[in-house]
Amino acid sequence: MEDRYGHRISYLRVSITDRCNERCTYCMPRELQEWLPREDVLTYEETLRLIRIATELGVSKVRITGGEPLTRRDVLGFFERLPAIEGINDIGISTNGTLLARPTSNGQTMAAALRNAGVNSVNISLDTLDREAYAETTGRDYLPQVLEGIDAAMGARIPLIKLNCVLMRGRNEDQLIPLVEFAAERGLILRFIELMPVSHSDVLDESNFLPIAEARRRLEQHFGALIPEPTFRTNGPSSYYRVAGRDQRIGFIGAMTNLHFCESCNKLRLTCDGKLRPCLGSYLEFDIMKVLRAGATDAELKRFFLDVVERKPERHDFRESYQPGRMMVAIGG
Ligand SMILES: C[S@@+](CC[C@H](N)C(=O)[O-])C[C@H]1O[C@@H](n2cnc3c(N)ncnc32)[C@H](O)[C@@H]1O
Ligand code: SF4
Repeated sequence: MEDRYGHRISYLRVSITDRCNERCTYCMPRELQEWLPREDVLTYEETLRLIRIATELGVSKVRITGGEPLTRRDVLGFFERLPAIEGINDIGISTNGTLLARPTSNGQTMAAALRNAGVNSVNISLDTLDREAYAETTGRDYLPQVLEGIDAAMGARIPLIKLNCVLMRGRNEDQLIPLVEFAAERGLILRFIELMPVSHSDVLDESNFLPIAEARRRLEQHFGALIPEPTFRTNGPSSYYRVAGRDQRIGFIGAMTNLHFCESCNKLRLTCDGKLRPCLGSYLEFDIMKVLRAGATDAELKRFFLDVVERKPERHDFRESYQPGRMMVAIGG
């Protein structure tokens, strides 16, 4: 699948739930959240069918996200069915990490069970190592569980483990160096992400915004020059740098300040309520659940995918006219 601007789509990001056990300030509002009724969420069967169709159109990587994907019932059963879809050679999950260490029915950790099901990449959100600040940002005092979750992912030998930190001025500025050291001690990739205006949340204004260039400068003051590694890629939008004198890579995701951010975009998103979104930073979304439930054939669903890709914008419009229509928790990041 290729769009009008030459973006080649090989990566489908699939949200399987809008529910979450945390309440991150930048992702959803604090007040009581109304979750989608169950019947408005794609069943696993429906989701697997759409993934299969996407792979027949050239998608080879899927990342399962949410909300918090590990809160959905029988999520392991879903993961176990993914590798049977021909054409998938990369299965990832984005998680807040809180449930990775939890024992599953046969006694192994969730992380080990995911690994056994074929998951080869895990992105774990970690904005701070300060327990109080963690609770303030996420609305939950779960930092100890997340740290256990990271250990469990490492213990399960998941080949690619990335830690993701959303930068917020005044909230986790003091955590840049501790997070780099934490990742170095464990041999994990750390990525810093610019705050994006994707939800109706009070924290998403200029005063909280910390650009990646500033984060990089601060790290350079401490660690010395960061050496760009333009050829190091993990299939995502991050620019990687190596810390001088170390075999450590740090990624920077500058969705707001990097003007070339969208050039290498290879993604399509499927929300848990069955909308295909050609771009995270655009209000455009197309209701594939409706046609699926109306009895569409595989050929018709393929046509639908191709039409959506045809309408993928050249770049996101966060910087210009973006009006958040949907909270991040309901898109899947
Ligand atoms: C929506 S979450 C879903 C997966 C999982 N619950 C988690 O937290 O990793 C996916 C990613 O989006 C990021 N995110 C959420 N809201 C954001 C925002 N406004 N700006 C930038 N990143 C955001 C989170 O930090 C997380 O890394
Ligand atoms: S960022 Fe992840 S953990 Fe935080 S509220 Fe959103 S979905 Fe939940």
